[in-house]
Amino acid sequence: MILVTGATGQYGTKAIEHLLRKGVKPQHISGLVREAAKGQPLRDKGISLRVGEYTEYTSLVRAFEGVETLLLVSTNDRGPAENRTAQHINAIKAAKEAQVKHLVYTSFVRKPAFADSAIGAFQQSHADTEQFLQDSGLTYTILQNGIYLEMIPRLAGENVVETGVIRLPAQDGKASWVLREELAEAAAHVLTTAGHENKRYILTNSESASFGEVAQELSRILGKEIQYQSPAVEEFQASLTQAGIPALYIGMFTTWARAIAQGALDVEDATLASFLGRKPTTTAQFISQMYA
Ligand SMILES: NC(=O)c1ccc[n+]([C@@H]2O[C@H](COP(=O)([O-])OP(=O)(O)OC[C@H]3O[C@@H](n4cnc5c(N)ncnc54)[C@H](OP(=O)(O)O)[C@@H]3O)[C@@H](O)[C@H]2O)c1
Repeated sequence: MILVTGATGQYGTKAIEHLLRKGVKPQHISGLVREAAKGQPLRDKGISLRVGEYTEYTSLVRAFEGVETLLLVSTNDRGPAENRTAQHINAIKAAKEAQVKHLVYTSFVRKPAFADSAIGAFQQSHADTEQFLQDSGLTYTILQNGIYLEMIPRLAGENVVETGVIRLPAQDGKASWVLREELAEAAAHVLTTAGHENKRYILTNSESASFGEVAQELSRILGKEIQYQSPAVEEFQASLTQAGIPALYIGMFTTWARAIAQGALDVEDATLASFLGRKPTTTAQFISQMYA
């Protein structure tokens, strides 16, 4: 039995879809959900549900009973980074107690000097989880996922086509953007093929791109000029505050933009291409699919 956590989420849903496409029978797949009702579409496909919450250890031990392979999808908790680490550690301990044989964890990409990056605390949480997993004695595979291509429209602004401007303090920084679905497909590959025991993989694109390049590609696709402006962080935050954007989102946009400016997410790698058996979707392809 393979259990996918975060099964009602976007990545978990796709990971399950790709397991099915790779020939895993629905009766050999289970999804961890927080609310059974939300998992009905999975049940309709013949996939069993286990109910569990990362903050409730006993719910996880119960949910992981009889599971051989676990895909632990990292939490989307927006609180302090320590919350995230604590939830992941709960899941790893529960997997150990439930005698799970192999745990595959969705981590996040980082460079050796990540501590200085704008997303250092977030990356530290993943690094701490990886360390705990390695020390747990469980057989593990770590997937260091790159930043989703799907973040581009959110960071570029919902009205970019109308305004003709991307304003983001990302400077000329590049990121190795990847399609969420292709990361999920790679996870399904790892879950269904041999030789991934106690390995750590960087799953990013083999070509990085900057917001300047995003603007160029958008201009080409739309047939109208889209400018890219990288204002000072204070100026950026003041304009979003004036536009009535909630502080939580201003914080998130600023943090990601600064991390991109620092090159913290610019880690090109060919592993994803080898797992997919093809070149991953590029930023230019994603933009033409999104905006054409
Ligand atoms: N690489 C990137 O650029 C990037 C971007 C965003 C997020 N991420 C990370 O990748 C993960 C998967 O991405 P996604 O797009 O699938 O996110 P998502 O759509 O928000 O899904 C997150 C999943 O995790 C579940 N979950 C969250 N907190 C939980 C908890 N305390 N206990 C049990 N389940 C919990 C959610 O359950 P509910 O459906 O009940 O809420 C949901 O199924 C995210 O959670 C985040 O850690 C990566």
